Amino acid sequence: MDMNTLPIGVFDSGVGGLTVLQSLKQALPTEDFIYLGDTARLPYGSKSKQTVIQYAHQAAGILDKKVKCLVVACNTASSVALDDLQKSFPNLPIIGVVEPGAQACVNTVQSGKVLVLATESTTRWHAYQQAIASLNTKITVTELPCPLFVALAEEGWTNGVLVEQIAHEVLKDSLNETYGCVVLGCTHFPMLKGVIAKCFNQVPVIDSASVVAAAVKTRLSHEKLLNPKKCQAKIDFIATDSIERFKAMASKFMGIDLSHDQIVLHSDTPSAFKATTR
Ligand code: DGL
Repeated sequence: MDMNTLPIGVFDSGVGGLTVLQSLKQALPTEDFIYLGDTARLPYGSKSKQTVIQYAHQAAGILDKKVKCLVVACNTASSVALDDLQKSFPNLPIIGVVEPGAQACVNTVQSGKVLVLATESTTRWHAYQQAIASLNTKITVTELPCPLFVALAEEGWTNGVLVEQIAHEVLKDSLNETYGCVVLGCTHFPMLKGVIAKCFNQVPVIDSASVVAAAVKTRLSHEKLLNPKKCQAKIDFIATDSIERFKAMASKFMGIDLSHDQIVLHSDTPSAFKATTR
């Protein structure tokens, strides 16, 4: 089998990882992708470590052998399950989003305080604190769980006065602190980047998607796995629940129109669907 022409797998608990997929597509325009959104079991961010590990294993199991590498485009799964996944699938290059996110942070700030907005699980496991400390010990990290932002993003509530008020309320205890940057430590949060940036005024708000994409490109190049073909790439989508909802979200957040005739049933994952686009 020619590994180079296999697609890149991208996995998230829902539609949030589409923000990462968007950057991957830009950085790697000739690569094919399979995006798996575990929409039936979202949110991961409020679940236990064992449950998230189990879900991440199942997702990786669906994509293993079909892809040449796997991007865990979910900060929660990257925080709690990346090591286990890498041990369980030793032949599959697996890249998480926390380390690139930490790298994006230290690229912006050299010392002082930074704020990481993430899910409950990501903050509970201090994934960003550890990842940033391993790169720069002069930075002090505060982690704030913002689970409500996931619900807002999934509902498509990403701007407007009401969303700004909610964001202000969620972030109010952090707004009087002086932070060098605010890191979006959840792949859903870039959808609310404008609203979050407005709350923090001049403070840079870091979205790690482009750094993740650069990390994936570097890794594929190292492993000699880049696709040499020059034709336009395609993306397959798999969701574990509701074709209609996923279609609507993909259209809203990626501008992709998945029509009915592009959708086929994915038989080995019950209650999942598969859609293809170019
Ligand atoms: N996309 C997930 C993350 O980056 C958040 C959504 C969830 O809680 O499942 O952590």
